[in-house]
Amino acid sequence: LELNSTTKYRLLRKQSSVPTKKLPDALIIGVKKCGTRALLEFLRLHPDVRAAGSEVHFFDKFYHKGFEWYREKMPPTVEGQITMEKTPSYWVTRSAPKRVYAMNPTVKLLAVVRDPVTRAISDYTQSASKRPSLPRFEDLALENSSLGWGSAGRSVVAARWPPVRLGLYARAFRRWLRRFPRSHLLVISGERLVGDPAAEMARVQAFLGLKQIITEKHFYFNSTKGFPCLLKSESRPTPHCLGKTKGRNHPHIDPVAIERLKDFYRPFNEKFYQLTGTNFGWP
Ligand code: A3P
Repeated sequence: LELNSTTKYRLLRKQSSVPTKKLPDALIIGVKKCGTRALLEFLRLHPDVRAAGSEVHFFDKFYHKGFEWYREKMPPTVEGQITMEKTPSYWVTRSAPKRVYAMNPTVKLLAVVRDPVTRAISDYTQSASKRPSLPRFEDLALENSSLGWGSAGRSVVAARWPPVRLGLYARAFRRWLRRFPRSHLLVISGERLVGDPAAEMARVQAFLGLKQIITEKHFYFNSTKGFPCLLKSESRPTPHCLGKTKGRNHPHIDPVAIERLKDFYRPFNEKFYQLTGTNFGWP
């Protein structure tokens, strides 16, 4: 049977578009409670993006299972599609930069960040939703200092409490920068992802080398929820928001505690602005 070149080309195309599972081309590496789910769900609107639905935790928990195990967790893709995954704990896993580099030194890395004070409250709110007996935020975020200042009632920020510690973005970011060129890391503003999702998604699509398909036409602002929601997505043809666990009401926090935390984070935020070349505008 003699095939003309067009038919041969079509057959080849067909062959190469048989869906197969690939290791990720891009990862959302963090930060916990900064809008990582929103970013992933927004990216999934793009026909050239396929992402694992749940957090895979390969580079922190399951690395011993090997790359073949990891690949199996990925959705099938055809040529031209990007494979993605998000696991926010990668951000602070010390061995993650080296391991990710071993998988693919040209992988693209995305991180969402948000005012570390609100991030800490969000993190606490999530824990409190599972453990109602949890002490007040103020009592966990601040500890009484017996040293130094002398006057009673002074408190210092509990820098080692995980919800506080995770907001020290510069530290973790430096670890990633030791392995990866700056151009392979995109830092996204969690505040802008809420305030202007289309603008932030334009940056994301450019970074990933994708056609600009996700635009303001995909979003509407749901004023009851107070967040942008989707008009439709691949899984649902009707308007919908992220689940109930995204966009929780935060408890009222003593303004004095908030001020202490803001003062605490200020120098670390400055450092992070320098490293990223972006002023995120946190108060
Ligand atoms: P809160 O629930 O404290 O408001 P993550 O997905 O990384 O766990 O982040 C959760 C946070 O994403 C939420 O924290 C919320 O502020 C933020 N977020 C950003 N865009 C959102 C959206 N469109 N819908 C709901 N939450 C969104």
